[in-house]
Amino acid sequence: MSPSRDSIEQQAVSAYTRHFGANPLAVASAPGRVNLIGEHTDYNDGYVLPAAIDRATAVAIGPREDDRLVMNPGSGQDSSFALRRLYPSERRAWTDYLTGVASLIQERGTPLRGANIFVYGNVPRGAGLSSSAALELAAAFAIIEMNGLTIPPVETARLCQRAEHEFAGVRCGIMDQFVSCLGRRDNALILDCRSLAFDHVPIPAGVDLIVCDTGVKRALAASEYNRRRDECNRGAGILASRIQGVTALRDVSRALLEEFEGLLDPVARRRCMHVVTENERVVRSAAALRNGDLEEFGKLMYDSHMSLRRDFEVSCPELDLVVDLCAGSSGVYGARMTGAGFGGCAICLAKKEYTEGVISRLNAGYQAKSGRKASVYVCAIDSGARVGQLEQ
Ligand code: GLA
Repeated sequence: MSPSRDSIEQQAVSAYTRHFGANPLAVASAPGRVNLIGEHTDYNDGYVLPAAIDRATAVAIGPREDDRLVMNPGSGQDSSFALRRLYPSERRAWTDYLTGVASLIQERGTPLRGANIFVYGNVPRGAGLSSSAALELAAAFAIIEMNGLTIPPVETARLCQRAEHEFAGVRCGIMDQFVSCLGRRDNALILDCRSLAFDHVPIPAGVDLIVCDTGVKRALAASEYNRRRDECNRGAGILASRIQGVTALRDVSRALLEEFEGLLDPVARRRCMHVVTENERVVRSAAALRNGDLEEFGKLMYDSHMSLRRDFEVSCPELDLVVDLCAGSSGVYGARMTGAGFGGCAICLAKKEYTEGVISRLNAGYQAKSGRKASVYVCAIDSGARVGQLEQ
């Protein structure tokens, strides 16, 4: 079992006190996420169906007399920045997420107080579970709380997304920040990434969500991600110039794409096909979840994986292996890669009474066939970012 949110926040508070020699003024935490379905659709104005997980990052914060932001990641040394001059670092660093968030909150018009920050958490880094969104949201909630500001949650999520674009150099969509901010315990969240209208969809009882971390990290993930975005934009631009009412791939149906696909080069055509069919799958998946039709939901997960593998080309042999192992296990409804791809995690939806068997099969099969060790565990679905209680 993963430690509770309360205990993660408490650890951040104790570590802050030990490190800075005073009690913090506030603590906040935010979860990582899995995406159940709807991959690479968010930056195409489409639909996504993620869920916040019981792995979180907590940020304990307290005031300083000067106007500096001093942060400690829980390992290594303090990093210190002048609040009036916050820039992205030249060589990407974890501090970019925090300086980015602080800088953009400040940009709204209120100069921030100097602060000491201690970060503690258990969202695995670089595994595709959005440790960066968790850090951004936890930092935003902590800074907002300590400075007595009020920023609506959707605006906070957008601000964190901007921090990722402008300070971390990844032109991500809104999904990760949105669900880390607004996720709800035991529910998935369906989000229309154009209007930002959203709804919570309860996960039926009797199933487990198993996460399998392949341990594969592709160095080029950020540049490949940005390249996929460009390829989608290229396709969308061509279609928009010929079809009235189309401004993004979200507006293109499968029938329209088939009619106009001759205008697209083969790469753009495959990228567009994935996005268009994935949007359909998200809408059908949310309906299947609502109706408790897990067979249908599982089938859509497999279809999504195949589309990401063949048309979007963001899977890798290790992710495919995990999905194949899941497909061959009893009690599994469906499985797919989750997140941007290029390594990272796959998820599997299984009947609770089969979970143990699926986990041992994954551990053994993955090691035998890939020569690597996977990290496989059950994730509970948790709630979004919050300000924690400080013990008196
Ligand atoms: C990353 C990005 C998200 C989304 C996914 C792919 O997690 O941060 O915005 O684009 O990849 O679905």
